Amino acid sequence: MPTRSFSDTFCFGASTAAYQIEGSPLADGASMSIWHRFSHTPGRVARAETGDVACDHYRRYPEDIKIMQSLGIRHYRLSFSWSRLLPQGQGAVNPQGFAHYDRLIDMLLAHDIMPMVTLYHWDLPAALDDRGGWVNPESEHWFAEYAQVCFKHFDDRVARWVTINEPWVIADGGYMHGVLAPGHKSAYEAILVGHHLMRAHGRALERYRALGRHQIGIALNLEPKVPASNSEKDIYAARVADAYMNRQYLDPLFKGQAPSELAEVFKDAWVERNPEEYKLICAPIDFLGVNYYTRGVTTYDPSGWPVPARSVIQPDSAYTDTGWEICPSAFSDLLLRIKHEYANPLVYITENGTALRDPPVNAAGRIADNHRIAYLSSHLHAVLDAIEQGARVEGYYVWSLLDNLEWALGYSKRFGIVRVDPQDQNRTIKDSGYFYQQLIQSRQLTQSPQ
Ligand code: BGC
Repeated sequence: MPTRSFSDTFCFGASTAAYQIEGSPLADGASMSIWHRFSHTPGRVARAETGDVACDHYRRYPEDIKIMQSLGIRHYRLSFSWSRLLPQGQGAVNPQGFAHYDRLIDMLLAHDIMPMVTLYHWDLPAALDDRGGWVNPESEHWFAEYAQVCFKHFDDRVARWVTINEPWVIADGGYMHGVLAPGHKSAYEAILVGHHLMRAHGRALERYRALGRHQIGIALNLEPKVPASNSEKDIYAARVADAYMNRQYLDPLFKGQAPSELAEVFKDAWVERNPEEYKLICAPIDFLGVNYYTRGVTTYDPSGWPVPARSVIQPDSAYTDTGWEICPSAFSDLLLRIKHEYANPLVYITENGTALRDPPVNAAGRIADNHRIAYLSSHLHAVLDAIEQGARVEGYYVWSLLDNLEWALGYSKRFGIVRVDPQDQNRTIKDSGYFYQQLIQSRQLTQSPQ
């Protein structure tokens, strides 16, 4: 396998999200978020785990910045906690919240690490949930106000902004199936939420164009759907599953319309919209953030809800600890599809990584997570494959810097290139962290793909 190189300008970064790592959720004037409430409700998160301590990054961020610096990581994607900055979601700001993120950002910059800030990574202020959360059509204005306050205060130091992380997961996990906060189970709500999130993105973008000076985009989790067979039913199932998970967000963003299949998926919950409503959503973004983890080999299953489909296990494939098929070739296919069908936007991979069972610290004091190295290496090869065929991918942020709270699955699923001991929060760089360090230094991928 010949060595392959990334260009000198390609950015290598690491990614995290506030509720998953910060801890101290109510410190210094912050208010509750929906994730605080959800994790403090019995039965919602595995083993009743919460983000109360998480990685204690709220207090240990200087150590984490030093770790990134030691690994040569020059780009860091983090998210702001809305309820630290505007505790009621709107109106009065919390100066201590701003002071915290000022310190964090200034320290990142002092260590030559460029922040990419996600405004919304799932932790809506509970005060806004009390007013209907994302089901309320006013939510686009709440978000625009919050976004504007952040742009005004931080855009002098933050050069990359992500409006919303994964609208599909928010709508599907939070409002359709109830497995994520706020835990509702309603197709009638989920269809509204998906649209309101995209409107919120559009509103924030509008504010940014009036006062921002850098780059702004959105992060979508995209999962290629491949029919399990050549049968008409499986082909149909893959098409509607794709419309539900991928095109529900890609099409409004780049084509200013919803995919026609959504009316069949949502049935009487479907809301026909005036095409004018999409104008705000399809205003040009500076980059598309792509979060890629897996593909779905899809078969027809009438019991599937809301899509009559389910993914089938591939006997010859390896699976991660979260039960996701490892399939790097689907990653390059996805990036090429974005190139061909969505006018080749600039792309940053805003998340890619894996939860796999890590071995314990060995006699040499190392964590030999070779399986994660293989995953990262094969997916980075896939990125290079797509770049070689003309996709405009200019950066990659590994998910995740730290082992953290994997939402409703708690702390058992470990995605970090740095281990965090769940008892004492001590950090140990895993071998995948050293692999990444070496890659950043050399810009060369030497490990052969899986
Ligand atoms: C989310 C992360 C999450 C990761 C792994 C993405 O859906 O943005 O917060 O931890 O996937 O599940």
